[in-house]
Amino acid sequence: MTEHVKIERKDNILTLMLARPDKKNALTNAMYGALADAMVAAETDPAARVIVIRGEGDMFTSGNDVGDFAAIATGAFKGERHVARFLDALARASRPLVAAVQGRAVGVGTTMLLHSDIVLLADDALLSTPFINLALVPEAASTILMPMRLGYARAYEMFAFGEPLDAKTAHGLGLANRVVPRDRLHAEAAAVAARLAKQPAGSLSAMKRLMRDPAVLTAQIAAESACFAERLKTAEAREAFTAFAEKRPPDFAKLAG
Ligand code: COA
Repeated sequence: MTEHVKIERKDNILTLMLARPDKKNALTNAMYGALADAMVAAETDPAARVIVIRGEGDMFTSGNDVGDFAAIATGAFKGERHVARFLDALARASRPLVAAVQGRAVGVGTTMLLHSDIVLLADDALLSTPFINLALVPEAASTILMPMRLGYARAYEMFAFGEPLDAKTAHGLGLANRVVPRDRLHAEAAAVAARLAKQPAGSLSAMKRLMRDPAVLTAQIAAESACFAERLKTAEAREAFTAFAEKRPPDFAKLAG
């Protein structure tokens, strides 16, 4: 359990709120664990017909906690890592997933949107995937899902440079259902979730299975995770994490590829 994920059940809707605003909702191992547990439990909970995921404060999430990445890279991290369970739960989720995004959605904050069935962006949303900037590789099956959405050229560029897409551009590229004013975001998410909760749940989940095959997604996640684990151990990644901690830009040019 962690106080950094708030879980609410109401009117057949399960709301998962990322609640670590002082760290821009950066996702810790414990937060991944809480999200995974809630999503797995929802699969057999008749009162969780729809899942809403949102963030507290001024941004959705700044992605994986970079300090956790550094701890894994140096071997300082001990215990079970829950991120794999979270990604698995995303890939296998049969419940409709609604994401409500204000401000930044960094890294997994953006790649989890590729697993969300309805994505609402506030007009201040900025989506970015700076995995390469951290000398890592994209995850969450985004190496197939992002090119499917954007086409290879745009997906490659988005990953290679990690530059954010604003809400209007992201919507235009098919990453979101609509852009809404910031102060309407959560009301709109609640409204679309309430509509989905009234639809036949069995039919919605059967449709989702036909539209996205969990076996394909989990196989890609496994391939990405193996590569990601290798990249975490590299000198490039050490430089990226040290630079983040020292609040300076990384210098990769000094390192061989
Ligand atoms: N992991 C760990 N800590 C993070 C974090 C992350 N992903 N994102 C933000 N934080 C921390 C900052 O270190 C800072 O902590 P401090 O107050 O102890 O110094 C605090 O959250 C506030 O962040 P700050 O950078 O001051 O906010 P900002 O609004 O100026 O910038 C971001 C927000 C998201 C642009 C910036 O924090 C950032 O680039 N974070 C890293 C994102 C990232 O690379 N994620 C991994 C993707 S794979």
